[in-house]
Amino acid sequence: MIKIAPSVLSADLGALVKDIEKVENTADWLHWDIMDGHFVDNLTFGPQFVSNIRKKSKLFFDVHLMIANPDRFIPKFIEAGADLITFHAEVVDNLRPNIQTIKASGIKVGVAINPPTPLDKIYSVLEEIDVVLIMTVNPGFSGQGFIYEVLPKIEELSKIITQRNLKLELEVDGGINLDTAYEVVKRGATALVAGSFVYQNQQGPKEAIRSLRKRTKKIDNS
Ligand code: DX5
Ligand code: ZN
Repeated sequence: MIKIAPSVLSADLGALVKDIEKVENTADWLHWDIMDGHFVDNLTFGPQFVSNIRKKSKLFFDVHLMIANPDRFIPKFIEAGADLITFHAEVVDNLRPNIQTIKASGIKVGVAINPPTPLDKIYSVLEEIDVVLIMTVNPGFSGQGFIYEVLPKIEELSKIITQRNLKLELEVDGGINLDTAYEVVKRGATALVAGSFVYQNQQGPKEAIRSLRKRTKKIDNS
């Protein structure tokens, strides 16, 4: 079944706990966009913040680090209660030390790539990670338009996953709505991050998640 991960970034931050409760029983994961003002031009949540909210939700915390120094903060987000930590391939020369730190703590590990970054960057570690996060917008803000040029990359990764028989979640992040969800799941995506579609939806977050499931159900073979 396709996993749906609403992004906290699009929620009402003044009423965050309430907004998380709205998706508590419908979402699979809760997506946290951690931004440092260096790797991306925006600032969001620190480990203390995530730790405080951890006490208010049982959801699987999917922590997406859009930061220039992941090695510095990974231990803090592990301590904060992350269930999955994903860091960007663009910010490190060697992916392995961070992968090992995260895995050693017993939680899941993911590597993210921006729209222009080729899959070559992560080929050698695909056997060692749980999630590949493919960005379909340039990171930094929610509510941006989906970059269709990334679709072949999703298809290519999905083929590799099948060929190598990998147990890997293919997560897509940015510009997801009913149409783009269909396009990415058709090409092999197994987890969808959705910010504005879920939290700025006239039908409300629950119904938005349900509609994403409905739209992708027939093409989901898992
Ligand atoms: C973008 C973030 C996304 C964002 C998605 O930098 O990584 O997770 O919150 O928001 P939407 O779904 O509105 O594009
Ligand atoms: Zn994200």
